[in-house]
Amino acid sequence: MTATIIDGKAFAARVRGQVAEHVTRLRAEHGITPGLAVVLVGEDPASEVYVRSKGKMTVEAGMKSVELRLDADTSEADLLAVIDQLNTDPEIHGILVQLPLPGHLNEDLVINSISPAKDVDGFHISNVGLLGTGQKSMVPCTPLGCLMMLRDHHGSISGMDAVVVGRSNIVGKPMAQLLLGDSCTVTIAHSRTKDLADVVRRADIVVAAVGRPEMVPGDWIKPGATVIDVGINRLDAPERGAGKTRLVGDVHYESCAAVAGAITPVPGGVGPMTIACLLANTVTACCRANGLVEPEGLTA
Ligand code: GUN
Repeated sequence: MTATIIDGKAFAARVRGQVAEHVTRLRAEHGITPGLAVVLVGEDPASEVYVRSKGKMTVEAGMKSVELRLDADTSEADLLAVIDQLNTDPEIHGILVQLPLPGHLNEDLVINSISPAKDVDGFHISNVGLLGTGQKSMVPCTPLGCLMMLRDHHGSISGMDAVVVGRSNIVGKPMAQLLLGDSCTVTIAHSRTKDLADVVRRADIVVAAVGRPEMVPGDWIKPGATVIDVGINRLDAPERGAGKTRLVGDVHYESCAAVAGAITPVPGGVGPMTIACLLANTVTACCRANGLVEPEGLTA
């Protein structure tokens, strides 16, 4: 079997198009422009790339984009004051504090100081609790993107066996909650799981989110299973020339694609969906803040 490639780049473009349409309607019918604020503390080069890309796509979707860049030695009190100001700013509907934060800042404290209604990352303890109890919440962007692709590919995933490899707060745990919400039978596997290969072999849906390059080989995949690869790992690629690198996921693409029914590539799979879902969450937050109907198909 050769797997169907789930084209995350094309799907994300479609989602961003739907977001832009909704923004146009919000502006025309209600005079409201959704606003997203991204806070970056310090100068981590990877974070810089993300933040620039988020800002560009926010503007392209017709929304207001605010980027706040703070020095790496910004105090916790100063950062909390910035967040507090954004919490009360009526033109800002979504707030994202780019992680990781410099070591002297308490990430949990900072995240939990964001107003839950504006927490477009879905990391606030209140949103985590709402998601865990099946209530309306802001949903973390990467797992939301994975869920959208699974629903789009399968129609319904009800009753399927899903294995999430990885237990992070950002991807693994919320992914498991979303799959459970769609009535999958869910297993969360991790580095201490016994017989990981056997556990993964039982899955109709495998979501790999461990951050270890090409960790899942094709012979762990049940024939016909759907493989969602969340990993983005940069490896040296001397065969491409001196100093060259290549991106790989958490699954070994060639061997998994030979067995799976469908698979997301890296790059061009889950990655582009994350920013698209951030924009979707901003529109959702804006609609909820104004008591308006939420866009269909853009939330869990
Ligand atoms: N850093 C890497 N990915 C993310 C993300 O999804 N949200 C935030 N806030 N920081 C990140």
